[in-house]
Amino acid sequence: MKFKLTQVAALLSLTQSIQAEGISRSRTNAIAPQPPFRPLPSSLPRNRTCHVTSAGDGTDDSPAILSALKECNNGGKVVFDEDTDYTIGTALDMTFLRHVDLEILGKITFTPDTDYWQENSFKHTFQNATTFFNLGGVDVNVYGGGTLDGNGQVWYDLFAEDKLILRPILVGIIGLHGGTIGPLKLRYSPQWYQLVANSSDVLFDGIDVWGYSSSENEAKNTDGWDTYRSHNIVIQNSVINNGDDCVSFKPNSTEILVQNLHCNGSHGISVGSLGQYPGEVDIVKNVLVYNISMYNASDMARIKVWPGSLAEMSEDLQGGGGLGTVQNITYDNMYIENVDWAIEVTQCYGQKNITLCNEHPSNLTISDIYFNDLRGVTSGKRDPNVGTVVCSSPKVCSNIHATNIDVESPSGDSDFICTNVDEDLLDVNCASSA
Ligand SMILES: *[C@@H]1O[C@H](CO)[C@@H](O)[C@H](O)[C@H]1NC(C)=O
Ligand SMILES: *[C@@H]1O[C@H](CO)[C@@H](O)[C@H](O)[C@H]1NC(C)=O
Ligand SMILES: *[C@@H]1O[C@H](CO)[C@@H](O)[C@H](O)[C@H]1NC(C)=O
Ligand SMILES: *[C@@H]1O[C@H](CO)[C@@H](O)[C@H](O)[C@H]1NC(C)=O
Ligand SMILES: *[C@@H]1O[C@H](CO)[C@@H](O)[C@H](O)[C@H]1NC(C)=O
Ligand SMILES: *[C@@H]1O[C@H](CO)[C@@H](O)[C@H](O)[C@H]1NC(C)=O
Ligand SMILES: *[C@@H]1O[C@H](CO)[C@@H](O)[C@H](O)[C@H]1NC(C)=O
Ligand SMILES: *[C@@H]1O[C@H](CO)[C@@H](O)[C@H](O)[C@H]1NC(C)=O
Ligand SMILES: *[C@@H]1O[C@H](CO)[C@@H](O)[C@H](O)[C@H]1NC(C)=O
Ligand SMILES: *[C@@H]1O[C@H](CO)[C@@H](O)[C@H](O)[C@H]1NC(C)=O
Repeated sequence: MKFKLTQVAALLSLTQSIQAEGISRSRTNAIAPQPPFRPLPSSLPRNRTCHVTSAGDGTDDSPAILSALKECNNGGKVVFDEDTDYTIGTALDMTFLRHVDLEILGKITFTPDTDYWQENSFKHTFQNATTFFNLGGVDVNVYGGGTLDGNGQVWYDLFAEDKLILRPILVGIIGLHGGTIGPLKLRYSPQWYQLVANSSDVLFDGIDVWGYSSSENEAKNTDGWDTYRSHNIVIQNSVINNGDDCVSFKPNSTEILVQNLHCNGSHGISVGSLGQYPGEVDIVKNVLVYNISMYNASDMARIKVWPGSLAEMSEDLQGGGGLGTVQNITYDNMYIENVDWAIEVTQCYGQKNITLCNEHPSNLTISDIYFNDLRGVTSGKRDPNVGTVVCSSPKVCSNIHATNIDVESPSGDSDFICTNVDEDLLDVNCASSA
């Protein structure tokens, strides 16, 4: 009898914890088909709501946003109302957020004041990146399906005149630990759409990226995501129409899961570039890229590592001599259409002279790389090649596998360039060497 009561009590408490979990996770889609590297923390239900008022006339709504955030921080929800236009003309430091939701139903537009933003945007030393705002803290969810518009056209045109201007990144997730971002629409970012730095345990789900230039000046460097100094990040169920990397793993990105993406017009899903700065240690480790459709792109799966000595990609892009590791990277279940390279691995990034690259092999090793289940048709731009794997020395490049690669160019070719790599592990037609 006593035993039975205990069982009932255990059952009751189990039901309660499931219900509590059900409530707290109600905003959060399941992480599937692949599980995250580590479980993501869940949020407690929010207990109060603050609405952000909009001046509605294009004047800066930043003071109203900050005051709503302060009022509802620590347990509340901040709502940007439906059918309402908000304007941000101030660089907002939102790294103080704790246990708060931002429900964005309306549209938020950043002012086109290029002088103000260059002066006041947040500066991150890494690659001269700057952000319109920094959003960070603990347990923050941003969702609602509304729009963030970067007013990119003025920046695309200004950049064509002056390559040294600092174009802000639309979304700066800086030092966020626990939280979900999406669904959201991101439009016309001046450069990268999202920088995820110094962050952990963040899920991006349902991000819709779109924005092309309407002048002859292209929207350049519009990466979908760049992860940096971050771990246990999930990016899933998103559509990206852009003109640079769909997702890019920059130095010290570990335990990153990317799945169910539709990318169009991009430079693919890229590791790097890494090893650009002499003596610096770059680590990209434990990455799973799963179920990606890639259209009209330069690459599908890409790994870019600089060689051991200084190389020059172009007048304003030089590097090499960095240290570190690229390890345990898997690209699985990929579909391509009109993509130049199905797979592009190089450890001689920026060095066209392969003899020179081999004389100074990279100090950044590549190991345990898996390309599996890749199908589709390339653009034919690299005929007769569809893939390339170029290492600077077999000593610094090991265990690179390719299996079930069913890719052809429109003319029916399917050759690979293979250099300094164990060809027994590559189940492709290694037809030439670089
Ligand atoms: C909401 O929750 C927070 C954090 O648990 C608590 O500090 C606050 O007093 C609560 N507010 C209301 C209105 O219940
Ligand atoms: C950063 O900006 C400075 C000044 O505009 C420039 O000299 C430098 O090359 C830039 N660095 C990178 C990594 O782009
Ligand atoms: C991340 O943290 C480091 C160390 O605290 C800091 O130097 C850096 O500015 C932070 N932000 C970015 C974008 O790396
Ligand atoms: C793969 O991703 C697409 C979206 O790009 C989605 O429609 C499909 O259901 C995904 N497949 C699996 C097995 O999750
Ligand atoms: C896909 O990318 C191509 C090439 O960049 C572009 O012309 C086209 O408009 C994009 N499609 C969508 C739906 O944005
Ligand atoms: C990356 O991690 C390595 C090893 O912990 C460290 O030496 C290096 O400074 C880190 N780099 C950055 C950019 O944080
Ligand atoms: C390597 O990555 C896979 C996911 O692709 C993961 O399951 C595995 O645990 C990782 N290996 C290590 C040693 O962390
Ligand atoms: C790829 O580009 C072509 C030509 O611009 C376009 O018609 C097509 O819709 C694009 N594919 C996707 C998936 O957007
Ligand atoms: C490439 O580098 C090697 C070694 O330094 C040199 O002998 C050769 O002339 C270079 N080739 C070209 C085309 O510059
Ligand atoms: C880089 O690698 C070379 C061998 O290719 C080695 O002699 C050198 O000491 C390494 N540099 C560093 C800083 O580890």
